[in-house]
Amino acid sequence: MRGETLRESDMPRISYVNGRYVAHRDASVHIEDRGFQFGDGVYEVCEISRGFIVDMTRHLDRLDRSLTELSIAWPMTRKALTVVIREVIRRNRVVDGLVYVQVTRGVASRDFVFPRSDLQPSLVVIARNVDVAAVAKKVENGLKVITVPENRWDRVDIKSTGLLPNVLAKQKAKEAGCQEAWFVDADGKVKEGGSSNAWIVTKDGVLVTRPADHGILRGITRTTLFDVAAKLGYKIEERGFSVAEAKAAREVFLSSATTIAMPIVEIDGQPVANGHPGTITLSLRQAFFDIAEKSPA
Ligand code: PDD
Repeated sequence: MRGETLRESDMPRISYVNGRYVAHRDASVHIEDRGFQFGDGVYEVCEISRGFIVDMTRHLDRLDRSLTELSIAWPMTRKALTVVIREVIRRNRVVDGLVYVQVTRGVASRDFVFPRSDLQPSLVVIARNVDVAAVAKKVENGLKVITVPENRWDRVDIKSTGLLPNVLAKQKAKEAGCQEAWFVDADGKVKEGGSSNAWIVTKDGVLVTRPADHGILRGITRTTLFDVAAKLGYKIEERGFSVAEAKAAREVFLSSATTIAMPIVEIDGQPVANGHPGTITLSLRQAFFDIAEKSPA
């Protein structure tokens, strides 16, 4: 193999499952894992960029909050988890990609109520590269979104693995030739996307995003974009905005660990502004990496 470039598809993928690093194709959990049966678990997705884990502290803080809200114990110490995360990234040679961390309440005979309190939670860590060129293409073209009525529970501030409404909404978006679905509340205000937070830029150049109360997930990218906006001198208003306001906005974008700030150019088939990615969105995206926390992978 010397002198040959290893293709992504030829690379051995390794994942971490409950104490072991295993070949990804053989990685599995027990059929009575409560994550599998009830969606009784939480997760985090961190971006890996240029060999750095982005905003790991904030992601692990949110993992801690999600676990606490659901009374699930840490599967190991926070320090040990960072070692496992780095090891999975290293073994998969991820330079630009993502790492997925999932903790469930554990394995127990099926019963709705919590099993015994000393149950060992399950831990899965998966890392993979992303196609940087494909992401660049998305940024260049911008994304299209559809709107759907909010039909999730009211604790979406917890990053739970129970994501069926998100799955169905995003599938509907795909079938409509779009890449994201926005959940809209009973008042016609945009909540967030199936896997991202929603933003608009007003005609005056003010960034608007919904307050991170219990109605949305407090995105880590969203939080860091507040730092980026402050640095670049943009004002942020935390308030709800309607679909009509978004359609008439100067710019629209979404944020998540895997997309950073990603332009939206169409809502329900209607172009936003001139139908091209906005310059403020792109400037936020450009500055993000420098301002975010970077931990060597
Ligand atoms: N999703 N809102 C929802 C419903 C999400 O699922 C996500 C992230 C976000 C953005 O959060 P953050 O900036 O911390 O990534 C908002 C991840 C990427 C996913 O499920 O793959």
